[in-house]
Amino acid sequence: MKICVLPGDGIGPEITAEAVRVLKALGLKFEMEEALLGGGAVDATGNPYPEATQKLAREADAVLLGAVGGPKWDALPREQRPERGLLGIRKDLNLFANLRPAILYPELANASTLKPEVVAGLDILIIRELTGDIYFGQPRGVREENGERVGFNTMVYSESEIRRIGHVAFQAAQKRNKRLCSVDKMNVLECTQLWRDVMIEIAHDYPDVELSHMLVDNAAMQLVKAPKQFDVMVTGNMFGDILSDEASMLTGSIGMLPSASLDDKNKGLYEPSHGSAPDIAGKGIANPLATILSAAMMLRYTFGLEAEALRVESAVKKVLAQGYRTGDIYERGTSKVGTKEMGDVVLAALA
Ligand code: IPM
Ligand code: MG
Repeated sequence: MKICVLPGDGIGPEITAEAVRVLKALGLKFEMEEALLGGGAVDATGNPYPEATQKLAREADAVLLGAVGGPKWDALPREQRPERGLLGIRKDLNLFANLRPAILYPELANASTLKPEVVAGLDILIIRELTGDIYFGQPRGVREENGERVGFNTMVYSESEIRRIGHVAFQAAQKRNKRLCSVDKMNVLECTQLWRDVMIEIAHDYPDVELSHMLVDNAAMQLVKAPKQFDVMVTGNMFGDILSDEASMLTGSIGMLPSASLDDKNKGLYEPSHGSAPDIAGKGIANPLATILSAAMMLRYTFGLEAEALRVESAVKKVLAQGYRTGDIYERGTSKVGTKEMGDVVLAALA
């Protein structure tokens, strides 16, 4: 069980350190090796996804990632931006299926900006296609036309790309409440009409799953109006980027949300849904729970270690019940802890 650890930028190194401690505490035989990705990689090598990292990531069974990016690298040309490293590793490892759960822990009900009755008990899973769509479509660029600059990108999906993410989504729905909502913009975009047609075709393989469709603008509205109507949502790369940020905020605590990006053989990259938070980097106050929960997803999806995954998730629930909170989820009457202390109490809860 080889794990490539990519701490990345900003708070990345602090939060991955805690997730690594948790993995080590399980007493399993993990081989872990660290490498560079993102801004730190650009500084050291000029490439946000350097060759040494590519080699390690390809050889590993799973990748644990902190976060990449920060203002320091904002002015760099596009190919050298830290985000390019993230997009590069997703594409290189063929991680087409991005699973982003949005779960509201009862202890954190007050963290949401929505009324408690709207979000209490929220548990939805957004499945975002991650290696296609307008993110990677060709042609793209900015050209001169009739004496002015014209910017263009291409939204493109082949039916095989839609089918493989569709199967992941239907199978995930089968393991949950058997309801799948596919999100598109078929009233305007041909590419997403094909998306809808293919979803309807593969639904025949899953008679036990109830498939519905929603236009993306309505989905954005329904997510804040009545989010509990959803079980599993599946959508393309760009709509998924936007809707998953929206869904994460329903829980009010983006510092709690893990994610998994999988290929077709359960190799995966696991990272918190939040970013590198450069404003609090190095202060020891970042919330490591999303990264710890990402490690739990790794145990479940790549290594098939369901019992160990549940063990880690229960430890996280336990420390919340015990009242431990990092600053981002702190409320009066709870105990404020830093990154490392949060790791300590999770380790204690595991024991
Ligand atoms: C995400 C991020 C990335 C994306 C950026 C950093 C390239 O927003 O993982 O959602 O757009 O996919
Ligand atoms: Mg995003």
